[in-house]
Amino acid sequence: MLTVALPKGRIAEDTLAIFRQIFKQDFRFEDRRLVLESGDFKFLLVRNQDVPTYVYHQSADIGVVGLDVLEESGLDLVRLLDLKGGFCRVAIGMRNEDQLDYNKPDIVVATKMINITNRFFSSKAISPKIIKLYGSIELAPLVGLANMIVDIVETGSTMKQNGLKVVDTIMESTTHLIANKSSFIEKKPEILSLYSEFEKIIRDGGRI
Ligand code: PRP
Repeated sequence: MLTVALPKGRIAEDTLAIFRQIFKQDFRFEDRRLVLESGDFKFLLVRNQDVPTYVYHQSADIGVVGLDVLEESGLDLVRLLDLKGGFCRVAIGMRNEDQLDYNKPDIVVATKMINITNRFFSSKAISPKIIKLYGSIELAPLVGLANMIVDIVETGSTMKQNGLKVVDTIMESTTHLIANKSSFIEKKPEILSLYSEFEKIIRDGGRI
């Protein structure tokens, strides 16, 4: 039995659709249920940011998650396969009228991605003030809470519509299939057989 942690929403739906296609079984969560057990699989429906936690602590063997979320978690997990979907960037944004200058004193960064932000600025030997927010990050520079933000950019519309521009890119992210190291060793045949099925689908242009 393999336990699979899926993030609620589109990614869970797309992943289950691929499982249905591979195993010809009707994998579907019932209404508000968070666990789905069927055949050789148990699926857990979790919050996006919690996928690495469930996999790391071995409540799930494998999971599907964006590289941005995985990097932010800082957890040491096996990256099995790039599922090529959910492309986005983790970028630095500033007001259109402002100029990027990493040497400027008093840099204040607002973000919900504290760890990625810390690592990025540490690698430049800069220690800005970092303010943790939980959403609507683009608002922070508009009201003077911060002079830059670190945030996810997908289409770029949110920044654009709020008078912000991307001034630097920290990383690019796509959805990945991940595993914890113990499960990868103990359940290697099952994980590798699933990996090769997914790999074929991705090679043929499938995306999650
Ligand atoms: C994310 C992200 C940006 C927006 C980027 O926010 O934090 O705000 O999407 O998308 P875009 O480049 O296509 O405009 P989300 O919708 O998750 O909401 P949040 O602000 O509550 O985090």
